[in-house]
Amino acid sequence: MKSVLLNICLLFTLWLSMGAAVTPSANKKVWITIGDAAFQKIKSSAPDLVSIDSRQLSAAAGADKVHAVTIDENRLVALAGAIHQRMGQCGGFMVHASEAEARAALSRGDLIPPTRTYAISHRDTVEPILANMTEKNIESTIISLSAFPNRYYRSRSGVDAANWLFSTWRGLGAGRPDISVTQVIHPDFPQASVSLTIAGTDLAEEAVVVGAHLDSILSFGMGENARAPGADDDASGVASMTEAVRAIITSGYRPRRTIHVIAYAAEEVGLRGSQDIALRFKAENRSLAGVLQLDMTNFKGAENDIYLLTDYTNSAQNAFIAQLVRVYLPGLTVGYDKCGYACSDHASWHALGYTVSMPFESSSARDNPYIHTAKDTLANSGGQTAHALKFARLAAAYLVELSGQD
Ligand code: BES
Ligand code: ZN
Repeated sequence: MKSVLLNICLLFTLWLSMGAAVTPSANKKVWITIGDAAFQKIKSSAPDLVSIDSRQLSAAAGADKVHAVTIDENRLVALAGAIHQRMGQCGGFMVHASEAEARAALSRGDLIPPTRTYAISHRDTVEPILANMTEKNIESTIISLSAFPNRYYRSRSGVDAANWLFSTWRGLGAGRPDISVTQVIHPDFPQASVSLTIAGTDLAEEAVVVGAHLDSILSFGMGENARAPGADDDASGVASMTEAVRAIITSGYRPRRTIHVIAYAAEEVGLRGSQDIALRFKAENRSLAGVLQLDMTNFKGAENDIYLLTDYTNSAQNAFIAQLVRVYLPGLTVGYDKCGYACSDHASWHALGYTVSMPFESSSARDNPYIHTAKDTLANSGGQTAHALKFARLAAAYLVELSGQD
């Protein structure tokens, strides 16, 4: 028998409209596949229902886990009603005639639960944090990072830059036992990634990630002491996220979900640091509410302020980010563009099924012509950091909204 997709609301309405006149044969067993959030809610009133199998459909946090459950057919209507009442919304579940069909649906991933709902609900927390963020702080980080001869993943100064960021971020978290800063060692090259973590309170096992890449490169003639300042690519992204987390920490905000701010090593040589890190999250089965990548934030090359890359990213989260701009950065304009290939660390997360977005400084047709040269300097980004501050504020709003809500 073919599996039937039942919308819970429809089922409930049908039952009401039929006056519950249809009585299924007693004790006939069926199997359903159902999203985790709905299953957990109904279990509190029907503890005898057990999951015979389950599957994580994607690595995203939220309702992406699906269970196969066996149930008497004559309880389906009550189940639908209970879910409708408890969830306060309509979801879906699928009924299957046999255990084999339920397991097959689970392995195909037929029941894709509704994508998570995004909400903006922390204006009172976010607005003062944004007001406290400054161009000067961003400038200071860009100047420090671009002063290293280069930040190449195999050079001495690439390692020195990681050490500098590590001690700078340790300073940001000083005196806060819930904040830790580590160097993530990659076995195949000397430059470490640097990670600052703010432990979540009641949802600590879920996390939100903001990242940027620490390394720089010269397209032609990269050597130990080659000059590759990488002021825009990507000292700007590291500086934007550093200012975001500094302001969040200063405000005393305590996230419900764990926050990870990560400066990846070795992006310029094939996304190597971020691939290593994303694989570790996956291996540990870590659930992520979302990932944001900041790669190049300070060169305003085109008309709009912020361009959301639509490839290798998640469209629902991109829409949420556009909403964050409307609410928290009124007056700024959002455009959409593509890289056309796996151009930065967001692709490492996307490849593993995580929800990721990348707001970019320009349209790709009018991107910074100086990147990967000795001329990628702050002066050649207009000698200002007003553009990077927009991305810093967006990252702060993103971190608080995603880490703080149900
Ligand atoms: N920041 C760039 C990516 C970029 C450049 C995006 C211009 C949009 C416009 C990144 O650091 C980079 O250089 N990526 C490499 C690819 C990577 C996989 C080695 C690139 O674009 O060639
Ligand atoms: Zn680059």
